[in-house]
Amino acid sequence: MREVRFCLDAAPSDPVLNSWAGWPDDGRIAPYLVLRATVSGPVDRRTGYMCNITLIDRLLRDQAIPHLQRTWSTTGGSGGARLAGPAAVAALWGRLEGHTPGGTRLESLQLASTPYRSFTACRGDLPMITMTESFEFAASHRLFCADLPDDRNREIFGKCSNPNGHGHNYVLEVSVAGEPDPGSGTVMDHARFQRTVKQHVIDRFDHTHLNSDVGEFARLNPTVENITRVIWDLLVDQFHPARLARVRVWETPKTWAEYAGP
Ligand code: NI
Repeated sequence: MREVRFCLDAAPSDPVLNSWAGWPDDGRIAPYLVLRATVSGPVDRRTGYMCNITLIDRLLRDQAIPHLQRTWSTTGGSGGARLAGPAAVAALWGRLEGHTPGGTRLESLQLASTPYRSFTACRGDLPMITMTESFEFAASHRLFCADLPDDRNREIFGKCSNPNGHGHNYVLEVSVAGEPDPGSGTVMDHARFQRTVKQHVIDRFDHTHLNSDVGEFARLNPTVENITRVIWDLLVDQFHPARLARVRVWETPKTWAEYAGP
């Protein structure tokens, strides 16, 4: 996987001075994107390389970034359907697929418009594009099994079984997949997507004690695994004609669980 970071409204400069912060990026305030290309292929026995990443950079910089910049500038920054994330990443796939270097194959392409929202084209899923967006909720919980004695619960769950509970700032990532609409370029109406997650999950879970305030956990241990599964069940029928592709719940920055259906 190789990632390039760039500004939509900056002229290319030579040489590349700081690709960590982004290139092209002239320091002004303007839309800033991240593009991630994943390729697969055999590893060369002598060099240990699958391919030289500078060649991937060159492909992305010659083909992907100028295309997005042209679309941005010729539409006065509005972009219309062509700069909707799903349509944009589908167009980039068409430009890059078959052109990755050294006998590699493009497996996925992800365009992140913010650190909290991305659009992914995956070989095998096309023409479906996946949009992933993150949400937050704070909640407390107690991990325990009602049919086990306290000392056994402490043995299994440790301080997570403290009778008065403890809290987390959860981050919920919801992924929906669909074919980009020819008119809007999106996989579903974005406001409807956000409203659905807010109403069905965030408004019910945020600032609650999950065990006592959220009915689904009255008899179900609110582990991050079960929280993820419950959220899947709450959302799975809500996004038609797009479909729920994946739910991931971060309980801490070090721990997440995800579910993509049975
Ligand atoms: Ni916990």
